[in-house]
Amino acid sequence: MSNPLRIAVAGLGTVGVGVVKILETHKDLIQSRCGRAIEIVAVSANNRVRDRGVDLTGYQWFDNALDFAGLDDVDVVVELIGGSDGIAKELAQKSIASGKSFVTANKALIAHHGATLANAAQEAGVAVRYEAAVAGGIPIIKAIGEGLAANRLNLVYGILNGTCNYILTTMEAKGQGFDEVLAEAQRLGYAEADPTFDVDGIDTAHKLAILSSVAFATETDFDHVYTEGIRRIEAVDIEYAREIGYRIKLLGISRLTDKGLEQRVHPAMVKVEEPIAQVEEAFNAVVAEGDFIDRTFYQGRGAGQGPTASAVVADIIDIARGHSGPAFFVPADQLTKAKPVSISEHEGAYYIRLHVQEKSGVIADITSVLKDHNVSLDVMLQKGHEQDGSVYIVLVTHKIQEKVLSEALAGIGALSSVQEEPLAIRIENL
Ligand SMILES: NC(=O)c1ccc[n+]([C@@H]2O[C@H](COP(=O)([O-])OP(=O)(O)OC[C@H]3O[C@@H](n4cnc5c(N)ncnc54)[C@H](OP(=O)(O)O)[C@@H]3O)[C@@H](O)[C@H]2O)c1
Repeated sequence: MSNPLRIAVAGLGTVGVGVVKILETHKDLIQSRCGRAIEIVAVSANNRVRDRGVDLTGYQWFDNALDFAGLDDVDVVVELIGGSDGIAKELAQKSIASGKSFVTANKALIAHHGATLANAAQEAGVAVRYEAAVAGGIPIIKAIGEGLAANRLNLVYGILNGTCNYILTTMEAKGQGFDEVLAEAQRLGYAEADPTFDVDGIDTAHKLAILSSVAFATETDFDHVYTEGIRRIEAVDIEYAREIGYRIKLLGISRLTDKGLEQRVHPAMVKVEEPIAQVEEAFNAVVAEGDFIDRTFYQGRGAGQGPTASAVVADIIDIARGHSGPAFFVPADQLTKAKPVSISEHEGAYYIRLHVQEKSGVIADITSVLKDHNVSLDVMLQKGHEQDGSVYIVLVTHKIQEKVLSEALAGIGALSSVQEEPLAIRIENL
C-alpha cells in the first residue's frame, strides 16, 4: 500500500466541516477506493474554540492558513474559505509555489484567477482541482473535462444557482412576489443575509465562466459574462409565462461559435416540457452538447454541506489516485483567449411586459414604436385591471436582434402612458 496522502484544510465552515465528516465516516471505503489512506494533518479557521460538531483534536491547528505552504508533511492544501482574492488567492499561490496540490470549492477564485493558477500549477507540476465550485454535488467538471473529452462541445447551459431556482419555483408554486419569497428563503437559510451574489446572477456568472473554460479550453473570462439577475421578475411574469407554455429560469448559457464566445446569465423563458424547466426548488442542472454525444443532462444538489463536500473529497481522491492532469484538461499554455460576443448581437424572441395607464390610443402608440423598429409580434395580450387604472400588456416578439429590441423598448419606455421600465425576458429554444 502506498503512503497516505496528507492534506491540510483551510476553512471549517459548512463545507470544511463536511469534508472532515466524509473523510472520517468513509475512511476505510476511501482507502480501499484509492489504494492509500487520506489523512488530515492540519486545519485552520478563524475561531479556534468554536464547537464545530466534529472532533478536531487529532489535527494540528494553525491560526494562519498561509503557514500550510511551509509544511513538509502536507501534499494537498484544501481551501474552503471563499472570496476571489485575499487569503484564498494567496493560499492558492503559496501552496502551488511550494509544490503542493490545491483543491478548492471557491468559484469566485477560479472564475477570476483560473488561468493564472492553472499556469502556476503546470510550472510547479502539481494539480489544481475545483469540482465543487460549479453545481456543487453534480460532477460536471469531470463529466465535461473527461467524460465528454472525445467531443467538440458547442453549447453548455444550466441552472447553476439553487437560491434563485428556489425563489422562482416558490414564486410559481405560491403565487408570491419576489421580495416575499426572498425574505422567506432568508428565514429558512436558503438565501444569504446579503443575497446580492445569488439574486443578481454573479454566482451563476462565476460558475459559467469556469464551465466555459472546461468546455471550450478558453481562458476564464468572467469580465465578459453578460449578467442579469432575477430581482425584476414578478409573480405576473411567471403566470403569463405559464399561459404561453414557458417557465422562467435563471440560466447561465455559454456557446462557442464562429463569432466568438457568448457567455450570458439572465432569466430565460424555457418551454415547460424541456427537462431544464422541470428542475425544481434548490436543485441545479447542466446541459452539455457535443458533436458526437448529442445532448447530455445532469441534475443534482448544487450546494449544501453534503453535496459540496462530496465534490471536494472526490477531487482529493483523484489526487490520491495519482491523477494530476491540467486544471482545465488541456495544458495551461494552450488555453485560448476567445473573442467575447456582445449581448447586443444576441438574436431571439422576447417576452415583454409593459405596465401602462389604460387610456385610448396606448396600444396604437406601442405598436407604432414597434413598427418603426420593424419588430413584429407573435402574441399580444392585455392582462388585468389594477385598482389604479393600470393594465399589463404582454408582448411576444418574433426573432429579432437584441440591439433592435433595446432601441424599441427605449422608445416604448419614453411613452407617457408607460408606468415603469419595460421588462424583457429572452425566450430560449436551446
Ligand atoms: N456552502 C455551500 O453550499 C457551498 C457550495 C459550493 C461552494 N461553496 C464554496 O465553498 C467555500 C466555503 O464556503 P462555506 O459555505 O463553507 O463558508 P463558511 O461556512 O462561511 O466557512 C468559511 C470558513 O472559513 C474560515 N475562515 C475565514 N477566514 C479565514 C482565514 N483567514 N483563515 C482560515 N480560515 C478562515 C471561517 O472560520 P470561522 O468558522 O472560525 O469563522 C469558516 O470556518 C466558499 O468558497 C464557497 O463559495 C460553498
